[in-house]
Amino acid sequence: MDARWIFALVRPSIGSDRKKRGRVLAAPVPPVDARAHNRAAWDLLSRSGDRWTVPVDARTVERARRGEWSVQLTNTKPVPRGWFPPDMRDVEILALASGGGQQACIFAAAGARVTLLDNSPEQLAKDRLVATRHGLELRLEEGTMEDLSRFPDASFDLVFNPISVIFTRDARAVWREAARVLRSGGALLAGFVQPVAYLFDRAALDGAAPLAVKHKVPYADERDLPREELEARLGRREPLEFGHTLTDLLGAQLDAGLQLVAMYEDVFGDATLDEHIATQMATRAVKR
Ligand SMILES: C[S@@+](CC[C@H](N)C(=O)[O-])C[C@H]1O[C@@H](n2cnc3c(N)ncnc32)[C@H](O)[C@@H]1O
Repeated sequence: MDARWIFALVRPSIGSDRKKRGRVLAAPVPPVDARAHNRAAWDLLSRSGDRWTVPVDARTVERARRGEWSVQLTNTKPVPRGWFPPDMRDVEILALASGGGQQACIFAAAGARVTLLDNSPEQLAKDRLVATRHGLELRLEEGTMEDLSRFPDASFDLVFNPISVIFTRDARAVWREAARVLRSGGALLAGFVQPVAYLFDRAALDGAAPLAVKHKVPYADERDLPREELEARLGRREPLEFGHTLTDLLGAQLDAGLQLVAMYEDVFGDATLDEHIATQMATRAVKR
């Protein structure tokens, strides 16, 4: 992992060695292990009942058993039912970074054979709880989405990945691995945040600061946040995010051998940017 050094800009001194003294190397922020940090961060979110960590209830499971279900890849819109096979029985699904007792349990109740891989033990525990409570079969795997080496090539009909590549440096690796584990004719259904959202501070998106362009894309909290903000975020155990380019979000799916066949856009639902532009996207891409 790269060591990230944060430079403190100080007022340049007048004199011949001005350049040398103008930029002073501050104490380095220790390199961040993003995976370990985000595991702890999502464990904490899961314990505190964040929206993406609330398990489905008995009624939702019962309805899914009768074939009445819907799931989300983004914040507000349901995934079109036509993105899934008409009959979910025995469809092999990899629910990738989908922990929290939600989509994986719904797929299992609908009759699919589901493997769930997530980086957070607390999120996985929610799925275990729902599965035990309702007699659902789920294979649970703790791991990181860029490394699916535990699964052989061509082992799934569907890979379902709700917004989560924002928590990894390497979105390309996620699509590459997803394509590898898909069977020919299988599909990757993915949700992600469009790059434009990362031009703005989180405070601006929350309405606590003006919507002014502040960052560049590709963006990484660990590299681009001012040092105090990064330290505060690490201290509060908030997830670290990465703002990827469209080349890495869409082009890399094509490079991985997938063909984009459908997409839609969505809003955050609670961000100031929503009134200007939808900044989430869902794609359906088929392995040739
Ligand atoms: C926004 S939640 C999505 C799951 C949720 N059930 C939903 O409704 O969309 C993001 C999930 O990604 C997982 N995650 C974050 N980084 C990950 C990584 N590197 N590998 C696998 N899962 C990861 C988190 O633990 C969390 O469960």
